[in-house]
Amino acid sequence: MANEAELQYLNDREILDLLFSYTPRIAEERNLDSLLVLMANLGRTLVQADRCSLWLLSEDGSELWTKVAHGISEIRIPSTGGFVGYSLRNDEALLIPDAYEDNRFDSSVDKKSGYRTRSVLAVPFKNSQGEVMGVFQAINSLHGCAFRQEDLEHLRLIAVYSAKSIESAQLFMEQQRTQNEITLILGEAAECRSHETGNHVNRVGEMCYTIGRYLGLPEEELNTLRQASSMHDLGKIGIPDNILNKPGRFTDEEYAVMKNHSTMGYEMLVHSRSQLLQKAAAIAKFHHERYDGKGYPTGLAGEEIPLWARICSVADVFDALTNKRCYKDPWPREKVIKIFDEERDKQFDGRLVDILLEHLDEFYAINEKLP
Ligand SMILES: [Fe+2]
Ligand SMILES: [Fe+2]
Repeated sequence: MANEAELQYLNDREILDLLFSYTPRIAEERNLDSLLVLMANLGRTLVQADRCSLWLLSEDGSELWTKVAHGISEIRIPSTGGFVGYSLRNDEALLIPDAYEDNRFDSSVDKKSGYRTRSVLAVPFKNSQGEVMGVFQAINSLHGCAFRQEDLEHLRLIAVYSAKSIESAQLFMEQQRTQNEITLILGEAAECRSHETGNHVNRVGEMCYTIGRYLGLPEEELNTLRQASSMHDLGKIGIPDNILNKPGRFTDEEYAVMKNHSTMGYEMLVHSRSQLLQKAAAIAKFHHERYDGKGYPTGLAGEEIPLWARICSVADVFDALTNKRCYKDPWPREKVIKIFDEERDKQFDGRLVDILLEHLDEFYAINEKLP
C-alpha cells in the first residue's frame, strides 16, 4: 500500500481497455485452475484490491475452495463460513468497510496466514441452472479505505462472465475425463479378450507418454499420445478366440489372421473425425512395423512409420517382455537390455531405444506402479 497517495481510480476508458485485454485470454482458457487465476487477476486490477479470489462450491456442497487467493495456495472453508459463505447462502453481494467490525467475519484464515483483512467485497455468481455456484471476493482496497459501490458493480459484472467461463471449462474437463475413460475401456476390452492380465494398456500409455516427454513433445500432445496408444490392439476384438488365445505357436495361416488385428483396429478407428481417434488409428495400424521395413502390415521403414507408432512399438514390446504373460515369465533385465540394444535401428527406432535404456528405471517404475 506504499503508493496509496498517487493511486487513481480507473476511468471508464481504462476499465474498457482492461476488459478487452482479458476477454480473449479468458475465452481461450480451458484449464480451470488457469482460468481462476486469470479471473482473479482481472478482478484484482479492476477493483484495485490487494487480493482477489474466486471461491467455488465443492461437489457435495459442504465446502468452498479457492486456488487463487493472491499469494496463498489452495484454501478450503466450510460453505457456511464467513462473508463468502454468507454471500453464497443468501445470494447476496456484500460491501464490508471493516471486516473485524462485522460478526459474520471468520478470522481463521487471517490467523493461519498472518494476513490482515480490512475491507471486503463478495459477489455470488450462478450457473446456467440459476444455482449459486461460487463467490467472487476482493479484499483490501489499495486506496486504503472501503471499496465503493461502483467497485461492487464492476465485480458483479465480471462475476456473471466468470460463471459462464467456469462452467464451460468444467464441461470441457468433464468431456476430457469421459474421453479418457472411454479410450481406456476400449483398450481394456481388447486386452481382456486376449486374456492379457493386468494393466497392459495403461502401462503402454504411460510408457509412450514418458518416451514422448523425453523427445520433448508438448504436454497436450503427450496426453493424446497416452490415450491413443492405449487402443493399439483394439483390432484383437475381431480375431477368433481359438487363434487369439492359442497356447502354443501359430501356424503360418493363424499368424496371418493374427496380424490382421493391426488393420482391423485401424478400420474401426479411422472413420472418426476425432483427432484422438485418427492418431489411435495410425498407432493401431503401424505398431507392428519395424524400423528396417520388415514389419507388418505395410512394410514401411524408418521415419515413414508414424512417430507415435514407433514409440508405441518400443513401449508395447518392453511391457510384454518385462511382465508375466500366460505363456512366459518376465525376462531378466540384462536380457531385455540386450534385445533392445541388438534391435536398435532394426526392429526399433534407435533414438527411442536410447531414451528407453537411458531411463530404464523410470520404465520399470511404471510396471511397479501399475502391476
Ligand atoms: Fe498388436
Ligand atoms: Fe499390446
